[in-house]
Amino acid sequence: MTEDDVEGGTWDGERLATTACERCPALVDSRSQIVNGAGPADADLVFVGEAPGASEDEQGEPFVGRSGTVLDEELHDVGLDRADVRITNTVRCRPPENRDPHVEERENCRAYLARELAGIGPELVITLGKVPSEHLLGRDVAVTSEAGEIHEATVGEETWPVMICVHPAATLYDPSQGEVFAETLRAAADYAGDGGQSTLGSF
Ligand code: URA
Repeated sequence: MTEDDVEGGTWDGERLATTACERCPALVDSRSQIVNGAGPADADLVFVGEAPGASEDEQGEPFVGRSGTVLDEELHDVGLDRADVRITNTVRCRPPENRDPHVEERENCRAYLARELAGIGPELVITLGKVPSEHLLGRDVAVTSEAGEIHEATVGEETWPVMICVHPAATLYDPSQGEVFAETLRAAADYAGDGGQSTLGSF
C-alpha cells in the first residue's frame, strides 16, 4: 500500500489516484465521486482537461461524455487510441452546474496533478482549453491563437513541456475549431513519435 497523506486528502502512488479529499467544500457537495486520471502509468502523452462533467461524475472516468467522443475520434485520426494516452483533469471533482473550477479549487488539486505527472514522466502534457492552460502556465492564454505552442510549466517539483490545445467541446460549438484541434493533436503525436522533439513548433 503506497497511500499517503496530502493536506486535506490521500494519494495512492501505485494507482496514481486521489483516494479521499475534502479540500473544496463546494465540490465535495456537488460530486458523486472523485474522478481520477485514466490510461497507462507510463504514457508519453498526458492530456489535462478542466474538470469532470455529468457523465464523468457518473462513470468515474475523465472525458467519457460528448467531449470524450470528440477526443477519441481525433486521437484515432492521428493514429492513437485512448488506451495509449493518459487523460486527466485540472480538478478531479464535478463543479456545481458545470461552472469552471475556481482558482482556489484548481490550486487545491494541483498537488494531485503534480504527483500524477511525476509518477508518469510524460514526454508532453497537452492542455485542453483555457482552464488547464492558464493553470499550468500561470498566465492568460488565448488558446485558439496559441494552440500548438509548447511552453515549460513547473508542476510541483518538476518541469514539463506543455502544448496548448483547444478544448474538444469548442469544436462542437464552433466547427472552425475542429481543424485547430486536429492540427494540435497531430503535432502532439509527432512530438511523442519523435521522442520528445517538436517538429512543428507552433502553427
Ligand atoms: N471536460 C473536461 O474538461 N473534462 C472532462 O473530464 C470532461 C469534459
